[in-house]
Amino acid sequence: MSTTDQRVAVVTGAARGIGAATAVRLAAEGRAVAVIDLDEAACKDTVEKITAAGGRAIAVGADVSDEAQVEAAVARIAEELGAPTILVNNAGVLRDNLLFKMSVSDWDTVMNVHLRGSFLMTKAVQKHMVDAGFGRVVNLSSSSALGNRGQVNYSAAKAGLQGFTKTLAKELGKFGITANSVAPGFIATEMTKTTAERVGMGFEDFKAAAATQIPVQRVGEPEDIANAIAFFTGDAAGFVSGQVLYVAGGPLD
Ligand SMILES: NC(=O)c1ccc[n+]([C@@H]2O[C@H](COP(=O)([O-])OP(=O)(O)OC[C@H]3O[C@@H](n4cnc5c(N)ncnc54)[C@H](O)[C@@H]3O)[C@@H](O)[C@H]2O)c1
Repeated sequence: MSTTDQRVAVVTGAARGIGAATAVRLAAEGRAVAVIDLDEAACKDTVEKITAAGGRAIAVGADVSDEAQVEAAVARIAEELGAPTILVNNAGVLRDNLLFKMSVSDWDTVMNVHLRGSFLMTKAVQKHMVDAGFGRVVNLSSSSALGNRGQVNYSAAKAGLQGFTKTLAKELGKFGITANSVAPGFIATEMTKTTAERVGMGFEDFKAAAATQIPVQRVGEPEDIANAIAFFTGDAAGFVSGQVLYVAGGPLD
């Protein structure tokens, strides 16, 4: 495939976890991939995995909640890889606490990374999608969107991303752009490892306990989510838009 035919994908929070697995998976689908995370150096492993397999990728350091950094990152991606037409808004943080103990700054941080970040990234990338008459946006929601004790900030942000997704689908559909949301259940990453530490459990015990509550009797791996994202970002998914897919090893209440 010549580089001019190659679609360019942007994956945020792709230094590790679900974002890293998604970047690698999209590269295996033939995409050139911009690997965005807070620290450019931390993106090196993901980029090396892609280039070692013969793909094209660049590491980009940016805080998705910072407008100027997002603008600069997208301009650099368009210059170095080509116009981006696939965007995966995956960057995320947890600041869990019960409502009465939650600080305003923990509320704001979660809103800024998930909601402001997805808004800024999508706004910056959609220009390229509209020009190309093609685009695929995937926003990472969560099973927590349905409500989860200790996550009033995170569940509000993840439910917010579902509304954001549906509105994008309605506004941008006429330009050949689809928007969908993937809502993971329990996935084994640094994020869930931190939660295990917070509740004072070893990660293996924490995963084993979670698995007993999941119909398929295991926790998810980042690749399980990357597989769903690969479907939504593919050329064949052009009639699937505004959907939320729970990828959680079973149905949720
Ligand atoms: N792990 C799970 O069980 C799970 C479940 C549901 C949803 N999710 C969602 O999936 C996404 C990925 O989660 P993960 O488990 O891979 O998490 P992770 O903590 O392993 O990785 C998140 C990445 O996002 C980056 N990041 C954080 N803030 C950023 C910012 N402002 N700008 C740029 N990058 C930033 C981090 O540096 C990190 O590399 C998140 O949106 C998360 O909320 C995860």
